[in-house]
Amino acid sequence: MNLYDRIPNNVNLSEDKKLQRALEKWLPNYLDWWCEMGPDGFQEKDVWLRTAIDVGSEGWAHFDYVKMPEYRWGIFLEPPQPDARVGFGDNYGRPAYQEVPGEFRNALRRIIVTQGDTEPASVEQQRQLGKTCPSLYDLRNLFQVNVEEGRHLWAMVYLLHGYFGRDGRDEADALLERRSGNPDKPRILEAFNQPCDDWLNFFAFTMFTDRDGKYQLSALAESGFEPLARTCKFMLTEEAHHMFVGDTGLGRVCRRTAQLMKEGDVRELGGIPLEIIQKYINFWFSYSLDLFGGEISSNSADFFAAGLKGRYKEQDQYSDHSAASENFTMTVVEDGELKTREVGLRNALNEVLRGEYVKDCEKGLARWNKVLAEEGASERLFLPHPRFHRHVGEYAGHTFDLQGNLISREEFERRKSEWLPTMEDREYVRSLMHPVYEAGKIANWIAPPAAGIKGKPFEFEYVRL
Ligand SMILES: [Fe+2]
Ligand SMILES: [Fe+2]
Repeated sequence: MNLYDRIPNNVNLSEDKKLQRALEKWLPNYLDWWCEMGPDGFQEKDVWLRTAIDVGSEGWAHFDYVKMPEYRWGIFLEPPQPDARVGFGDNYGRPAYQEVPGEFRNALRRIIVTQGDTEPASVEQQRQLGKTCPSLYDLRNLFQVNVEEGRHLWAMVYLLHGYFGRDGRDEADALLERRSGNPDKPRILEAFNQPCDDWLNFFAFTMFTDRDGKYQLSALAESGFEPLARTCKFMLTEEAHHMFVGDTGLGRVCRRTAQLMKEGDVRELGGIPLEIIQKYINFWFSYSLDLFGGEISSNSADFFAAGLKGRYKEQDQYSDHSAASENFTMTVVEDGELKTREVGLRNALNEVLRGEYVKDCEKGLARWNKVLAEEGASERLFLPHPRFHRHVGEYAGHTFDLQGNLISREEFERRKSEWLPTMEDREYVRSLMHPVYEAGKIANWIAPPAAGIKGKPFEFEYVRL
C-alpha cells in the first residue's frame, strides 16, 4: 500500500510512470471539480470521516477528523486471486482477462463510464444538503457518502486511464465536465439528474439508488476482466454504509412519524406524513429500477457470454455458469395487454438482477414496517409494482397503477398526484428542513439513530463547525 504517494494506491502506481503522470494530471482537475461541485459551505470544516488506509479487513476504515478537500482519495483494489478464472459464460474456466478483450472494448468502456458517471453525479445532487442537516450525525454521514463517491470515481478513472488509452483519458475528462440536472451537459442516467434537495430525498436515494449501485457492482465484481472485478469488490465494502444511511434514515423518519401520529395530526406537529414517505418510495424505487436497463437485452446476453458481467453472487448462488439453455418467463405488453413471453435466460439477465434488487428492497420495507408496528401504527409502507412509473425497457411508454395493472394514460395522469410526490409535497418537506448544528440535538421530523458511528455516542461532535 503506497499510502503517502500523491495518489494513495495499492496498484504499484510508481512503477507505471506513464499511468502515474496521466492520473497526476487528472488529480488537480478532480480537486477543482470537488471544490466547485462538492458539499457547499463545509469544505473548511473538520469532519470525523473514515478513510481507507488498507484493503484488509482491519485497515480499510480508519476514523479521524479530516477537511474534505484533504481527504485521501485513492485507488484501492482487492488483492488479486492467484489463478483467477473467468467464472461464467462461453469462456468459463479460462484464465481471467488481464487486458480488455478487443471485441468488447467499446462496450466495456461504456459500462465503466456509465458507472463512473453516477459517482460524481450523486455528489452534485447532494451538494446543498449540508445546509439543512437534521443533526451533526447525519451531516457527517452525508459527507462520508460524498467523499466515498468521489473515491469510486477514482476507481473508475483508474480503469479508464489504465486500460483504455487515449479514449479512456478523454472519457475521464468528460466525467468531470457533465453536471447533474444540467440540460446542456446532463449526467448519463436519469435518476442522477433528479434533484435530491431535501433529506427525505437523500435517504430514499441512498436506500434505493445506491442499492442499484450495489447490484451493478456485484455483477461486475464477478467479471472475468480481473482489474474490474477487483475494483468493484473493494467499492462494495464502502457502498454498504451508503445503504445503511438510507435504510436507517428512512426507518428513523418512520419512527418519528408514527410517534407524532399518536400525538395528533402529523402535519400540524411538523412531521412527514406516511403518504408522503410512500410517494417518495414510489418515485425513487421506480427510477432506480430503470437503472438495470431493458428487461430483454441482447447486451446483457453478450456481456454474460463474454464473461464480463455476471449474475448477483454468480459463484455462490449458481452451479450452471453457462445459462445458455434455460428460459425465463417475462411479462410484456402486447396489443395493449399483458402477456407472458419466454426468452432465453441470457437475454433476461437485467431482469434477473433487478429481481435480486427488488428482494433486497423488500427487506428494507419489512424493517420500516416493523418500526411502525413497534410504535403502534397500523399503517404499512410497500413497494410499488416494478411496472409502475418506468421510463426504460418493456414497460416504458405504458402506464400502470401501483399494483402493476395496465391503465390508460388519462387515468395515470388523473391519479398521479396520489402516487408520486407533488410540488406541494416537495415544498412541504422542504419547509421542514432547517439545520440542526448543535451536537446531540435532532430535528423534529426524524428520530435519533439507535447508535452513533464507530462506538461514538450520538452526542459526539461529528463535524466541527
Ligand atoms: Fe459509489
Ligand atoms: Fe454509494
